[in-house]
Amino acid sequence: MIRLSRQQGGFLAAMTESIRSRLEWLYHSIRPIPSRRRFDYDRRLLVNAYLAEQEADARDLRSTVARTGLSLGYPAWNLLYYTLLCSLPPSDPVVVETGTNRGFSTIVLAQALIDAGAGGVVRTIDIDPEVVELARRHAAQAGVAGRIRFHVGDSRDFLATLAGEVDHVDFAFLDGDHRAEAVAAEFERLYPLVTACDGKVFFDNTGGGGVAKALRRIHETYGGNLVEFSNCSWAPPGNAIWQPPARTQADGGRAGRDHRR
Ligand SMILES: C[S@@+](CC[C@H](N)C(=O)[O-])C[C@H]1O[C@@H](n2cnc3c(N)ncnc32)[C@H](O)[C@@H]1O
Repeated sequence: MIRLSRQQGGFLAAMTESIRSRLEWLYHSIRPIPSRRRFDYDRRLLVNAYLAEQEADARDLRSTVARTGLSLGYPAWNLLYYTLLCSLPPSDPVVVETGTNRGFSTIVLAQALIDAGAGGVVRTIDIDPEVVELARRHAAQAGVAGRIRFHVGDSRDFLATLAGEVDHVDFAFLDGDHRAEAVAAEFERLYPLVTACDGKVFFDNTGGGGVAKALRRIHETYGGNLVEFSNCSWAPPGNAIWQPPARTQADGGRAGRDHRR
């Protein structure tokens, strides 16, 4: 086994990060997609100082991908933040994210827990161990590492395991594999956990492609309330929030649980 000094290790990590940025940028240059990510805004609106620092000189998609990777960007970060902040139960929230990438949406979610004075952690999963390592470092620099539990692996396996550990999920942000089958499979695992507490599922890249297809299928199969925001995020743009139908006294509180047709 080859042993690297700390300096050589640091150099290798920086080189890997630079290659990753270039590849990510190349991918999005070859596949130009409309973006609603904004750059002309006051960075003080961002919910975490380290995030604001990373965005400080972001002028366009290229410069921003180099810093915050494939993150959903402003104003979607704030939509995500307030949606979680305004959804938290009085105690012990269960918050889940699929698709950690470099950890910037995870930082936003963790900041919402902190600002709400809520307990608990954000459980986040990514299939790529290298990005999870970067995300750990970013979370530490953002001062929120203590409120995040990182996992490496496939999101569907992770959610299946989670179902054996918790009896509800208050909030799930799905931003991993965006193919329709994958999104639908993640949702299927989450459905009983989210309906158990009238929780919410937040989706990214909803304006087209696999996520849009999955959302149509989810709405047909499970019903529920879907609120769509087309003017934020990128590649493709759009966010959406799904919530089970409200329980009423008339249905004995069953609507949230028994809506699957
Ligand atoms: C769009 S990025 C996530 C961006 C991040 N949520 C943010 O906004 O900062 C998608 C991530 O999903 C991960 N991913 C893709 N397929 C996955 C799977 N099956 N399970 C877990 N993660 C997956 C990729 O490695 C990638 O880092």
